[in-house]
Amino acid sequence: PRIFAVLGNPIKHSLSPRLHTLFGLQTGLQIEYIRQCVEPANFNEHVRQFFANGGRGLNITLPFKEQAYALAGSHISERARAAGSANTLWQENGAIHACNTDGVGLVNDMLRQHVTLRESRILLIGAGGATRGVLPALLQAGCAHLHIVNRTEDKAHALAAQATVPPATQAQVTASAFSALQGNWDIIINATSSSLSGEPLPLPDSVFRADSVAYDMLYTASGDTPFLQQARAAGALHTSDGLGMLVYQGAESFRIWNQIEPDAVPVLAALRTELT
Ligand code: ATR
Repeated sequence: PRIFAVLGNPIKHSLSPRLHTLFGLQTGLQIEYIRQCVEPANFNEHVRQFFANGGRGLNITLPFKEQAYALAGSHISERARAAGSANTLWQENGAIHACNTDGVGLVNDMLRQHVTLRESRILLIGAGGATRGVLPALLQAGCAHLHIVNRTEDKAHALAAQATVPPATQAQVTASAFSALQGNWDIIINATSSSLSGEPLPLPDSVFRADSVAYDMLYTASGDTPFLQQARAAGALHTSDGLGMLVYQGAESFRIWNQIEPDAVPVLAALRTELT
């Protein structure tokens, strides 16, 4: 079989092994995909050993995405470079290569749900690694205005200032604190870890319209999260958790490693059923 793994710390709850096993069954490839918990000091050595032992591909999750990016040196895809982090590694001609499939995962899950990104006005909540990972793909998808809001305002401004708008698009990228939020948005994306703390985000109801799309990059078994509940209470009708994003980022990693494009839709349905 072809050998794959996901590295992180913690890693116990990762759905990636199940996800890739389902892609393997669907495409008829014999794969073995395992979870490995790694200590930060051992990360680089662990990755090198994995490929030296014949491993075919790695997914990288928290807290190692920046380290994975650095480890690949100059062998990075445009997507990884724009995000400054990597979640997908493989070896080619003896060198470790890196890509970031999180952004394309989010965009593809939105396209599955018929969300229009082109010319859209997007409110992106959070300014950590999750935001950095998806920001380039949202700009690439042709949004008209992307506003970053964050509890620590400076981090939002820093991300907005660093963002490179692709030449063919003309997105406006702005940033603010929650207290300065104005207007309503077509798409509101939660890229914070606030749900983990159980604290509601200080968002005025007026950022949501009935036809706004509220997307939480986090996923839960039920598909509902505190942020999505907040969005619905404020009148938004279309809400989505991030399970689809997880499946589509995995599908893109699988395609990079195996040169076969799996169909994410039935795998997403199967995972949702298994979770509930
Ligand atoms: P990740 O890599 O998952 O993005 P991170 O880099 O630690 O993790 O970033 C977490 C994000 O969630 C940050 O934007 C953080 O806001 P701060 O920059 O102000 O810390 C945000 N966050 C976490 N808990 C939050 C809460 N209770 N309310 C609002 N924002 C929160």
